[in-house]
Amino acid sequence: MSENVHPKATSVAELEIAAGEKLSAFAREYISHPGEGGQTYRDNCQAFKRYRLLPRNLRDVNIRDTSVTVLGAKLHFPVAIAPTAAHKFAHGDAELATAKGAAAMNTLMVLSSWSHHPLEQVAEAAPRGVHWFYMLFYRDRGRMKRLLERAERAGYAAIVLTVDSPIGPFSLRRKPVVFPEQIRLPNVWLDDVVPGPAGSLEHDWGLTRIVKNGATWEDVTWIKNNTRLPVVLKGILSAGDARIAVDLGVAGIYVSNHGGREQDGVPATIDVLPDIVRAVGGEAEVYLDGGVRTGTDVLKALALGARCVFIGRPALWGLALNGAEGVQQVLQVLKDELSLAMARAGCAKISDIEPSLVVHESYYLYRQLFNHSGKVNNKILKSKY
Ligand code: FNR
Repeated sequence: MSENVHPKATSVAELEIAAGEKLSAFAREYISHPGEGGQTYRDNCQAFKRYRLLPRNLRDVNIRDTSVTVLGAKLHFPVAIAPTAAHKFAHGDAELATAKGAAAMNTLMVLSSWSHHPLEQVAEAAPRGVHWFYMLFYRDRGRMKRLLERAERAGYAAIVLTVDSPIGPFSLRRKPVVFPEQIRLPNVWLDDVVPGPAGSLEHDWGLTRIVKNGATWEDVTWIKNNTRLPVVLKGILSAGDARIAVDLGVAGIYVSNHGGREQDGVPATIDVLPDIVRAVGGEAEVYLDGGVRTGTDVLKALALGARCVFIGRPALWGLALNGAEGVQQVLQVLKDELSLAMARAGCAKISDIEPSLVVHESYYLYRQLFNHSGKVNNKILKSKY
């Protein structure tokens, strides 16, 4: 890594502060905004702290292996890059730099459809990287077929369908937005005439004519039947939806609340994870994003059943700080923290991370209130509550 890498930042929290100083006011607001009311965003982060680690000691943890396989691809550690739009706001090299940063750390990146660079160029920028493509639902199935074929030809390893945004943000805008950067969207507009600059109302109206609002399970089935690639559903929060998806043959259930940017007031992802893992019953891989900021967050998510976690904003903070190397730095911080947390928890490899490693804080409250036979401990109840 070059000397440009932010020298002082040794945690994601510090990288966030450093990135905040570098980003323009527009980009800071766009990237770091906690969503409508901010409740879900805050809860995503705080909920991790409500789980306590219960380490096992005296195990040989001198050599640790953080590698995992995700849909058959080997990653050096279970932290990957979530799909996020418009990396150009963070850095001039946009998604090309993010892909290089992820590949340098031997992990995977999900490319958003809302990217400045065509999906082929992003794959070529990091040929050793593992790439998934997040595709929108379109009204015209011919358009979807063409995109699916392009993603297959370019070597993408999975198709991600985001199911928690039934109404695109462009459908709701009533005022144009003037972007500080010219944004092209070559994975949305194919050979169409682009109706005005991104952010203009003409552009938004154009999008509402091609993007399908309110997609259903029928669209998921069609996409599944029209690609050779495994399909991952992102934005699942209920065990019921997870079960339907698994019964349809979906390969990955990606637990997410869009980092709080869609419906505010939905639960923290780490809180819904155990029920979803139970409903999936090992028939698909389960992933999680939302508020992952430390190695112990990663450890807790894995203990509760996630195979891999994804980061949204932190990758963009790294990108803003120093392009590909900044992305690499954020990932390196999380990898090192995970490795240390594994050692302290008595885990030499990922398969050593078990559910018994994590206890929700409510358990200890319960233990205080009820004695071992399940009877209320009146003394504690009167003195404390
Ligand atoms: C997003 N997210 C997102 N999700 C998606 O499926 N498609 C997209 O194009 C975007 N775009 C996007 C832009 C920006 C600026 C952010 C911050 C987020 C959501 C993203 O994939 C992920 O779910 C959250 O960012 C995860 O939460 P954290 O890691 O940011 O807390």
